[in-house]
Amino acid sequence: MEYKNIVLSVEKEIGTLAINRPKALNALNTETLREIQLAMEEAKGHPEMKVLIVTGTGEKAFVAGADIQEMANMTSMEALQFSKLGHFSLKMIQDFDRPVLAAVNGYALGGGTEIALACDFIYASENAVFGFPEVTLGIFPGFGGTQRLSRLVGKGKAKELIFTGKRITAREAFEMGLVNRVFPPASLMEETLKVAHQIAANGPVGVRLAKMAVNSGFDMDLAEACLLESYAFSLGFSTVDQREGMRAFLEKRKPNYTGR
Ligand code: CAA
Repeated sequence: MEYKNIVLSVEKEIGTLAINRPKALNALNTETLREIQLAMEEAKGHPEMKVLIVTGTGEKAFVAGADIQEMANMTSMEALQFSKLGHFSLKMIQDFDRPVLAAVNGYALGGGTEIALACDFIYASENAVFGFPEVTLGIFPGFGGTQRLSRLVGKGKAKELIFTGKRITAREAFEMGLVNRVFPPASLMEETLKVAHQIAANGPVGVRLAKMAVNSGFDMDLAEACLLESYAFSLGFSTVDQREGMRAFLEKRKPNYTGR
């Protein structure tokens, strides 16, 4: 499918969803948020895709936030719809049944950090810049930043970033646990792809169940979450891949996973 503000491609089991509005530094307007939903639906229809990478086109920005031009004259009700749309689009990324990695290649401000936070984990180039400048615009984060950031790095660090609106470097984002790894700009995509292929070589059902168990269990108490894990673990034993993975180990060969 052709999109105006998005490029979705699939190559050798790895999908890439690139936000593509370089003139506005890939800012998220309504059209782009709707296209993200369509692209996530399209991605679901690619069974060969084992991992999805989210990135931004161009050298300068991953995503420079929600579109300020569009928000400038919004009414409160329009802002509610806009925030809900953002939440829905980002939740589709969060709930995608395969791993989603963020490759942050430049400015990831406001909605940019928020879309990265909806991914399973974040890799960044050395020139990436993170932050929540919303308070400098008289508002505050509205696409999940107050919730996902505090769950990932803790309430104190999240509040410091959100209340000050200050920008931080990729290295600082790494130190606070927002970013998993930092690479030179020229090798960000190559290194992200390496990890994507490493994940893609594993039993796909096991990886999907693991994502579900971590995400769904995170907000439960430990006893309920462990029970959820037990049931998901047992479900893995109904798959051909579980037999294949263990047989391959015992026969000292590489497994041939089929996703069944
Ligand atoms: N929305 C709309 N347009 C944006 C944009 C945004 N978030 N960020 C950048 N642009 C546009 C600029 O208006 C400019 O357009 P023109 O060429 O037509 O003037 C173009 O992209 C290039 O930007 P700059 O000239 O500003 O580039 P720069 O290199 O001088 O600065 C920057 C880069 C520091 C990222 C700066 O553009 C900036 O501060 N952008 C806004 C960042 C921001 O505040 N993001 C949070 C938005 S609010 C939000 O996200 C709410 C939410 O949680 C839902």
